[in-house]
Amino acid sequence: MVFLHKFLENRGGILYIDGVSAVELADRFDTPLYVLIENRIRENFRELKGALLKHYDKIRIYYSAKANTSLAVLKILNNEGAYLDAVSPGEVFLALKAGFKPERILFTGTNVRDDEIKFLVDSGVIINVDSLSQLRRLLKIHIPEVLSVRVNPEIGAGHHEHVITAGRNSKFGIWETDIFEAYKMALSAGVKRFGIHMHIGSGILDIEPFLLAAEKMLKIADQVHKKLNVTFEFMDFGGGIGVPYKPNEKPLNIDEFASKMLTLFKRFIAENRLGEPFFCIEPGRFIVCDAGVLLTRVNTLKITPFKKFIGVDAGFNTLIRPAIYGSYHPIIVANNLNGLEKETYDVAGPLCESGDILARDRRLPEVYEGDLLAILNAGAYGFSMSSQYNSRPRCAEVLVKDSRCALIRERESLEDLSRGQRLPDWLK
Ligand SMILES: Cc1ncc(COP(=O)(O)O)c(C=O)c1O
Repeated sequence: MVFLHKFLENRGGILYIDGVSAVELADRFDTPLYVLIENRIRENFRELKGALLKHYDKIRIYYSAKANTSLAVLKILNNEGAYLDAVSPGEVFLALKAGFKPERILFTGTNVRDDEIKFLVDSGVIINVDSLSQLRRLLKIHIPEVLSVRVNPEIGAGHHEHVITAGRNSKFGIWETDIFEAYKMALSAGVKRFGIHMHIGSGILDIEPFLLAAEKMLKIADQVHKKLNVTFEFMDFGGGIGVPYKPNEKPLNIDEFASKMLTLFKRFIAENRLGEPFFCIEPGRFIVCDAGVLLTRVNTLKITPFKKFIGVDAGFNTLIRPAIYGSYHPIIVANNLNGLEKETYDVAGPLCESGDILARDRRLPEVYEGDLLAILNAGAYGFSMSSQYNSRPRCAEVLVKDSRCALIRERESLEDLSRGQRLPDWLK
């Protein structure tokens, strides 16, 4: 039986999520249903912050909104003192709505349009440029007081090739040979204050790639400092801290991560007289992943000579990670936690796609129609990657805290499927 942390409890065979019965949540709010645990979000944030602060005072944690952009989550993290990493005007809009001050938001977009640049400038957020093209266009629109440049440190890592965001094949960041040009352009336009940034990928469970890439970025920063006399106000080492999903995966040791990264950082900035920049990171998954549970109801059992399928009401429209990354999520039967795992099932969603499989060959207790499955570690890249594919309205989200629960996102209705659509005159 998988139990990830103290906010998931077995009470008489029923899953309780921070004191709230999963069965009652499903009955009250229907399924599929994302359940987010406020206390776990706070705990994860504090663990990371505490670990970093042991080594250095000037730290900033930019919560990477793309992992989960629910306003309640953003509000919790703003309240914890997080900064925010946004990658689209929409994320900036939501972060501002949740109360983040614009100067605490770093925008790291790629292939950004001019009207989006204007929106960012008007919003007052800090822009982290991803290309010389973006920088040129930004400087024509506005000369910011502060600017950050995203470096491609040539070292990438991640749980799947689609989430590796640095290296020779990556579309992200500015290649080393263009970095001086970027800072030179900004300096001569009149930019006064600078940052430097990298993000090498997502779902990384080893410290080594972080250290290698950090060293590379620090060397680039040092060159920029020496050649152009740029002083860095902040250095952002990106997100990517992994979370174990499979039973055999080990968590990245956060204390060791903080200690090794900050030892390297402090030594490098001292030896090269780079001042005292803020040390920044941008975790998304680490903060919210294990704070989210997806509840889905079993409606069908189908037994063939080859397979036993459990048919549930959540498909890759609700949780796409298994379909696009082959990701594994722990699954438990929320209304029968004491059952012995004696069957092997495939868990399949309701979409008309063969790839709509949430789990293959999973050992579970015997499952019946009407049972409730809990898909764990679903708080990151779950709802935020969900869609209306097959014209299925997106599901609801609930926040739980200390045995209380509240709906934080309504389930979409059938009407939502046609919202914004128009028929041209000739079809009316
Ligand atoms: C620029 C940037 N920062 C941070 C993150 C967060 O990554 P993770 O959720 O793995 O921490 C991402 C994710 O792709 C990203 O693109």
